[in-house]
Amino acid sequence: MKAKTLTAVLVALGISVSAQTLSQISVHGFVYNDKNNNGVRDKNDEGIKDVMISDQNAIVKTNTDGSYRLDNPAAKYVFAIQPNNYVIRGSFWKEVATSQAEVNIDFPMLPAPRTSSFTFVHASDTHLSEQSLPRMKKLKSVVDSLKPAFMLVTGDLIKDALRVSEKEATSLYEMYVREIGKFSIPVWNVPGNHEIFGIERHKSLVSEDHPLYGKKMYRKYLGPDYYSFFYGGIHFIGLNSVDYHDLWYYGNIDSAQLRWIERDVSSVDKSTPIITFNHIPFFSGGLSMSEYSDGEPGSTLITIDGKKQYRHVVTNAPAVLEITKNHNYPIALAGHFHAAQKFALDSGVPNTEFHQTAAVVGPTADGGFQLPSGIVVYTVTNGKVTDRKFIKLK
Ligand SMILES: [Fe+2]
Repeated sequence: MKAKTLTAVLVALGISVSAQTLSQISVHGFVYNDKNNNGVRDKNDEGIKDVMISDQNAIVKTNTDGSYRLDNPAAKYVFAIQPNNYVIRGSFWKEVATSQAEVNIDFPMLPAPRTSSFTFVHASDTHLSEQSLPRMKKLKSVVDSLKPAFMLVTGDLIKDALRVSEKEATSLYEMYVREIGKFSIPVWNVPGNHEIFGIERHKSLVSEDHPLYGKKMYRKYLGPDYYSFFYGGIHFIGLNSVDYHDLWYYGNIDSAQLRWIERDVSSVDKSTPIITFNHIPFFSGGLSMSEYSDGEPGSTLITIDGKKQYRHVVTNAPAVLEITKNHNYPIALAGHFHAAQKFALDSGVPNTEFHQTAAVVGPTADGGFQLPSGIVVYTVTNGKVTDRKFIKLK
């Protein structure tokens, strides 16, 4: 205890102390109803119980007074799983400072609007750069006019981080964070292949030892690359469906995520609808519309552990469906193919529809068709998705 106090004093005096490893750190704090919306826990701001807090590995619940404790975090950030009836004020994730052994992180929340019906937007593939900035502005003006409760963006957020220098990749990430910050609604992101930093090393000339290599650059700018939240009686799960092997990305839900999904859904009521959102789709008609390619960088197949598999769908999607098989899982959302589409099995098993949205960055041509740019707007009424509408972005 004395050592911790000394550390706190030294930090307060601006004297640097050696950083703690995550295994020596305890994160604790409060989730509370920020009644006067000032971002500070005032005397009248009561705690919110049973809110889940996670580090992408463990999930702990807040006590009756809204307090929580998460020892030895597995990641440099923790996040709150937004509960029903509240919306998180500010960022849903916070960085864990490694200069102290005891880290305090609070999550202020505001009561969610009480409506039986709301809409949300599914956008994707913004591929942001100076050239595509007008498309982002177009998206913002359309979303502003639609007034959804929130927007999901399923990856390929920036033009490219796969095959460029750190300087180029970070400037695109910074541009994306800045542009998304201009939206007046919450924006929930997940990474696409273009957010994976430096892995095409013959082009990026980035070393595998780079501290932001691979999935780490996304986490620096946008926090957890898989997480969940509740809104209006629905449990949304954002996933990172992009993995990589040597120089090339491919669709996969890694084992750490599979374990986390299991923990996450175990505390979700079996009747609560689950909607997942990720970049590379679980299943897609896009695969058969696109021409077969055996050349890089976008080849159709990849060899993993000696076995050829598709790169542009999630080969181990059945592992996710196995975890969720006793749940109510109506829709799985994705992007990547730049073509809005739906896929479902008439057998009703799995009882999930697989939806993709188009690209924000612009129209594309595939399979002999002109595919327009656009977004999809979902309407939820009394906890059920009751409408799906594709809106072209001209
Ligand atoms: Fe993509």
